[in-house]
Amino acid sequence: MHQIPAFGDDPLQRFTLHEGLGPAVAAFSLPDRLGFGSVFAPVMFRADYRDGSWQPGQFQPYGPISIDPGAKVLHYAQEVFEGQKAYRVGDQPTALFRPAMNWRRLNASAARLCLPPLPETLFLDGVFGVTALNEAFIPGASGQSLYLRPFLFGTESNLGMAASREVSFMVIASPSQAYHAGSMSLLIERAESRVAGGGIGAAKVGGNYACALQSAARCAELGYDLTLWLDPVHRRNIEELSGMNFFAVVDGRLLTPVLTDSILAGITRDSLIQLARAQGLVVEETSIAIDELLGWIETGRCSECFACGTAAIVTPIRELGEAHGTRHDLLQAEGEITALLREELLDIQEGRAADPFGWMVPLPADYQELTDGDLCA
Ligand code: COI
Repeated sequence: MHQIPAFGDDPLQRFTLHEGLGPAVAAFSLPDRLGFGSVFAPVMFRADYRDGSWQPGQFQPYGPISIDPGAKVLHYAQEVFEGQKAYRVGDQPTALFRPAMNWRRLNASAARLCLPPLPETLFLDGVFGVTALNEAFIPGASGQSLYLRPFLFGTESNLGMAASREVSFMVIASPSQAYHAGSMSLLIERAESRVAGGGIGAAKVGGNYACALQSAARCAELGYDLTLWLDPVHRRNIEELSGMNFFAVVDGRLLTPVLTDSILAGITRDSLIQLARAQGLVVEETSIAIDELLGWIETGRCSECFACGTAAIVTPIRELGEAHGTRHDLLQAEGEITALLREELLDIQEGRAADPFGWMVPLPADYQELTDGDLCA
């Protein structure tokens, strides 16, 4: 194992590079077809928390990890994660989109699940370092990126119902294209709830995605792509799509569900609201009753709907339907406002347009130097 000094004047040895990195990188090549989240880049990061503090992390070859069968995460689902992207389209320098937002949201999710907070430096070491060491494998076509998946989980081997005193933070990366190609058809989920009020719906925790799987299976049986979740109390107002936020254009205004304690605050959602307002569009964060929206679709007042998320970017919705069969087609399968916002966002992320909000953070030179010399030899 190579011990390398940390950057700047930080006296701590913040991380090491595993000696197997060079061969792992040399053995990897990008496949012709990427998909989303199915190809894993050869370098990952891991740092452990024990005895009340975070230990120095390590960049390691991507591969299986060993975990004690009694680990809390396997029994009580003490796990939170993030999704974020590094871009290198054309000859643009590699850059990450709003990484500090992911760090803040990861810590908000961690607090909800009694996981210890992650120092910003450790989070950035993980995401910037994994990006730098996998930089050669960032796919370069528009819509593609290096999808980064930071995650935090309880590893203490103990079946007692108490917060894990041992935790791991890892970052893996997947060269990917957008999560969904084309437009989507959504099942209005009137039978099940994704989360409970006062529960963990606003946190990015694995359990929220696991409990969406049954509805996802019903979607597939009924010929829909994804679930549209309603509020857990009255099943009246639109919430989100398990992994994406929802927008509708009604009478020329852009509507999106106002955040509640059962909706995840999407970073793409926040960015699109800012972009739309900068375009002069009226944006309303408000309660959207599903039956009212269906009426607006029938009368043509609602002309377009779309979903957004880090993985999904901006994905048009072509229809909303019921489990019993009634389907409501949108007038525009991909509307003008949907297309405009998608293009504006991608132009900033992929470096074709100015970045008036300062969202893009270029990969710092210190991390790029990780690949220099014989560190990975
Ligand atoms: C993301 O958009 O990053 C997510 O975590 C959603 C997931 C369903 C891919």
